[in-house]
Amino acid sequence: MTPVIDDLSLDGPAPLQQQLYRQLSQRILQQRYLPGRQLPSSRQLAADLGVSRNTVNAVYDQLKAEGFLRSQAGKGIFVHEDIEPHRLAFERGATSRPVGAGPGMLPSLPRPVGPFRRGDDDANLPFNPGLPDLDAFPIRSWNRLLHHQESRTQLLGYSDLQGYPPLRKAIAEYVRVSRGVRCHHDQVIVTQGAQQGLALIGDVFLRPGDRVLSEDPGYRGARYALGRQGHTLVPVPLRREVLDIDALGDIGPARLLYCTPTHQYPMGGILDISQRMALVQWAQQNQTWIIEDDYDSEFHFCNKPFAAIQGLFDQAPVLYVGSFSKTLLPALRVGYLVVPEPLVDHFVWAKRISGGESPLLSQAVIAEFIDSGQFTRHLRRMRQLYRDKWQYFQARVSETLAGQVTPVAESAGMHQVLEGSFNDGEVSRKLRQRGYGSAPLSDHFIGTARRQGLVMGFASASEREIDGCIAALAQLLPAG
Ligand SMILES: Cc1ncc(COP(=O)(O)O)c(C=O)c1O
Repeated sequence: MTPVIDDLSLDGPAPLQQQLYRQLSQRILQQRYLPGRQLPSSRQLAADLGVSRNTVNAVYDQLKAEGFLRSQAGKGIFVHEDIEPHRLAFERGATSRPVGAGPGMLPSLPRPVGPFRRGDDDANLPFNPGLPDLDAFPIRSWNRLLHHQESRTQLLGYSDLQGYPPLRKAIAEYVRVSRGVRCHHDQVIVTQGAQQGLALIGDVFLRPGDRVLSEDPGYRGARYALGRQGHTLVPVPLRREVLDIDALGDIGPARLLYCTPTHQYPMGGILDISQRMALVQWAQQNQTWIIEDDYDSEFHFCNKPFAAIQGLFDQAPVLYVGSFSKTLLPALRVGYLVVPEPLVDHFVWAKRISGGESPLLSQAVIAEFIDSGQFTRHLRRMRQLYRDKWQYFQARVSETLAGQVTPVAESAGMHQVLEGSFNDGEVSRKLRQRGYGSAPLSDHFIGTARRQGLVMGFASASEREIDGCIAALAQLLPAG
């Protein structure tokens, strides 16, 4: 008897071949067509479905190559007997379920911590901390460099895992001159933003049972990266808005200590030279490595930024982290690490495992942007622009919100903390509904939040947006 198939219909928008392949393979996986079942010849199926015989032959060939079907000379085409029903049991009734494992197979994974959302539509709202002024970016000059670089075939293949050599040279020169970092370009590792740099440090350094010390309040991205394998994060409190070095004695040693010594995030204090010396001394005595996150030192208004700890002392146990997210654009996803020479191979290996090379074209454009002097000019312009915005923002805050919030002066750079006694999570959420980003200060604490306030990223806001946001805050905050 000629085998018949009458439950197929090719009326979807996808190409016929794709529809037929999908329907046949699914019916086999769902055991609607059992192993050993004979299928119609390609001539008959083509006639039944009103498609060309070539279409059916192509699908049959594909299914044979994948082991769904087999053909037997002189007899016809069959569902392969090697597809054992018990192997397919989990696919039964799977049509309505999204692709993926059934609930019984899901391991008990730790939940992502923090205010984590998929597909964050709000990521570029004005006042979101960390966001530069995207409109002020010199996009025309950038595109010219991009156009120039994208025609180079050398940039289309694989590249140096450690980072594009001209970019590593440009970074080494920049951090030496402007941040006092002691390094050779062989010590520079290009990363996908500071965030990947922090994750790589965790991968290279942390072993089961290790402790990580972190400023409290502090940068959440560092906590997520360094605590993700279940390592204990130990909060180190601040004193006068900087890491309290004296508290370290009681807290005891750890493998790593994360800090932002040149502009504490988010409170803004700067470790002075004697505190820097005490920190390095403590780290050396306790065999602890300092992670120095130098995320926004270019934008200081009160004083010239202090030189990086990394360069102050020979042999200081410091891993230096930098990023172009603030000085250029977050979307580039390019940052860098400067690590001691003996550790470079470990980092390059860790990078290879977690993502491999950084996008070569972006690296080449950044290198040219720096080498041509445009980076320095851009930084100069942005410094002035952010200073003007800061002054405008400060003036509006003191005119309108006096008594409702206390601005933390040191924090100014690209953001400013407005402290107060209010439910900061609630106010931040309501501000967001009105189109203004901000982060609740309380979210930056590891344990119990001891202070409330809003971290306001004014760098991304126009004067009109500053006015609008201050007016919204005046309504949302409790009267002073
Ligand atoms: C303290 C701190 N470090 C680093 C970064 C940069 O992160 P990334 O380079 O991953 O964008 C930020 C960005 O907001 C930050 O606030």
